[in-house]
Amino acid sequence: APRKKIALIGAGMIGGTLAHLAAKKELGDIVLFDIAEGMPQGKALDISQCGPVEGFDAKITGTNDYADIGGADVIIVTAGVPRKPGMSRDDLLGINLKVMKAVGEGIKAHAPDAFVICITNPLDAMVWALREFSGLPANKVVGMAGVLDSARFATFLADEFKVSVRDVNAFVLGGHGDTMVPVTSYTTISGIPVDDLVKMGRSSREAIDAIVKRTRGGGGEIVALLKTGSAYYAPATSAIAMAEAYLGDQKRILPCAVKVDGKYGLDGLYVGVPVVIGAGGAEEVIEIALDDEQKANLDVSVNEVKGLLEACKQIEPSLA
Ligand code: APR
Repeated sequence: APRKKIALIGAGMIGGTLAHLAAKKELGDIVLFDIAEGMPQGKALDISQCGPVEGFDAKITGTNDYADIGGADVIIVTAGVPRKPGMSRDDLLGINLKVMKAVGEGIKAHAPDAFVICITNPLDAMVWALREFSGLPANKVVGMAGVLDSARFATFLADEFKVSVRDVNAFVLGGHGDTMVPVTSYTTISGIPVDDLVKMGRSSREAIDAIVKRTRGGGGEIVALLKTGSAYYAPATSAIAMAEAYLGDQKRILPCAVKVDGKYGLDGLYVGVPVVIGAGGAEEVIEIALDDEQKANLDVSVNEVKGLLEACKQIEPSLA
């Protein structure tokens, strides 16, 4: 079979990291697109020159022309601006909404058959807007947030329980904001629910609550330390896992921002839920049973996303 084609819209910190990871894993040939002139071309050359050392075969090119994403199998979108210290993801809405319009139109014109993964923040609103602007079917446009949020949760839990991160299966629902819902009853260590481990005395409710809080603010913690931008290694790694699930028809159940229609009492909103990712894109949303507290927490998160969508419609009446 011919090589797959991966187009990365936005060649900044996450975009460059994505290109390097995708090349190392030989997911396909890579096109780095950006509006900045020269920068995607320069990064493409630099990353290409890792090939002889690392031993990968992937053609990596940089471009400022949407025509070059033509025929892409997977598109990962990081175009836009990242946070600076003191900003919330929502502060990016106005600027990044305009970027999603340009990107959505570029995808619609040149790569309407691609599986599109959006990373640009505020995530749940931007992936919804990107779907609207691109006109692609909802199963082909997803947002990356839950894989990253659950990876952050898992990292902190592995530390707390002094176990390998490999044995932690962390579960996060809801929007990619400070109201996200880490679900401890579905979070396990080698199959043992964290709530049971607390009952067994291996940690305390207070320690787990503090970890939940740290997970919710996990992006902001990194922004405050970096000062010049936001996280990029783990966000890129998380999106690559989603791309691999699609390309390999893996049927992985991953927490992703997808359009939820009917399940969880939602009607067409993009929010983070467990979803089967395979060759059909977002193939099936898995609806889990939630207790009253979890439901109430999810409601808070969903209402925050709804507020962002209203703000998008105010700025861009064509979305209403
Ligand atoms: N089309 C294409 N690229 C664009 C556009 C546009 N209309 N507008 C901006 N860009 C490019 C910038 O030139 C820059 O190279 O998007 C890139 C963004 O890269 P960084 O500023 O390094 O940001 P990054 O850390 O990669 O984060 C990107 O992902 O996690 C989110 O909140 C984060 O929204 C941010 C996005």
